[in-house]
Amino acid sequence: MINVAIVGATGVVGETFLRVLEEKNLDIDNYVLMASKKSKGKKVKFMNKDYIVEELTEDSFSNNRFNYALFSAGASTAQKYARIAAQNGCIVIDNSSCFRMDKSVPLIVPQVNMEDAYEHLNIISNPNCSTIQAVVPLKVLDDKYRLKRVIYSTYQAVSGAGKKGIDDLDNNTACKFPYPIVDNCLPHIDVFLDNGYTKEEMKMIEETRKILKRPKLPITATCVRVPVHNCHCESITVELEYDFKIDDIKKLLNNSNGIIVLDDPNRQIYPINTFVSGTDEVYIGRIRRDYSVENGINFWCVADNIRKGAASNAVEILENLLAKK
Ligand code: A2P
Repeated sequence: MINVAIVGATGVVGETFLRVLEEKNLDIDNYVLMASKKSKGKKVKFMNKDYIVEELTEDSFSNNRFNYALFSAGASTAQKYARIAAQNGCIVIDNSSCFRMDKSVPLIVPQVNMEDAYEHLNIISNPNCSTIQAVVPLKVLDDKYRLKRVIYSTYQAVSGAGKKGIDDLDNNTACKFPYPIVDNCLPHIDVFLDNGYTKEEMKMIEETRKILKRPKLPITATCVRVPVHNCHCESITVELEYDFKIDDIKKLLNNSNGIIVLDDPNRQIYPINTFVSGTDEVYIGRIRRDYSVENGINFWCVADNIRKGAASNAVEILENLLAKK
């Protein structure tokens, strides 16, 4: 019997866990949906059945009740409950930032480093949404041409900030964000750190290094929240160690697992949010040489931050773990 807990089932990512699990219909016998006290008793339709949401408590994982748990309930909830779950024999796949940089916790994007996922202490981390979509093409480039330097500039959707972020865009409020997101691009995601970067920017830098196993790779990032509902867009500039032909780069990316290249500027074809929303692939376009350096390229990278950037990535990890069992 495989029993799975969905923690944070009433949130934006949690609801998408349910949609992705319905689509994939994995070999799982029982699901239990959990959220905060506020949602206790709430009815949720899932797999053509009504599920009653349970309150997450310290006893939720007692008696080795679960084999796996998908967590998306924020870092403080993960901090408090993921280890309790892990100690009770449950393998946790956590979507928060809580354990990502912990050396004993694998940080996994299945297309990139699934092989790292099997050695764990019952906690596996899902990377930050903007990191996930970036490392999929970067891994392909690193393997063939070896990355020398990476510059990220992101254009991130409000759905990444949960239901309160979406409400700020829909209602022209500034409850979640420090200023109205309507009509503004805010160069401020998560908190500012002493080094002048935001925590989101440092997450991208550090998580990329960990996933690619390139601990000293020079990377810089500017992360910006923009007034769109869904999908993160990223301008990614890379310098490579080895020379390349731009057509070879396009072919290489297009032939890679999990990537779709949409790149025909003469026909105005490039990835955009509303086209990519609802999908699980990473879309790449505007692939071109950066003439300002030796061996440089620029490209545009778009993915559904709630699906590939969070829920689908976590469910893909679970799917791979189940297949290996
Ligand atoms: P709830 O809806 O009961 O507050 P989002 O980021 O979209 O707002 O979603 C956050 C998710 O995490 C929700 O499902 C929320 O449940 C859940 N959550 C937040 N805090 C806790 C907590 N202390 N215990 C359990 N679930 C929590």
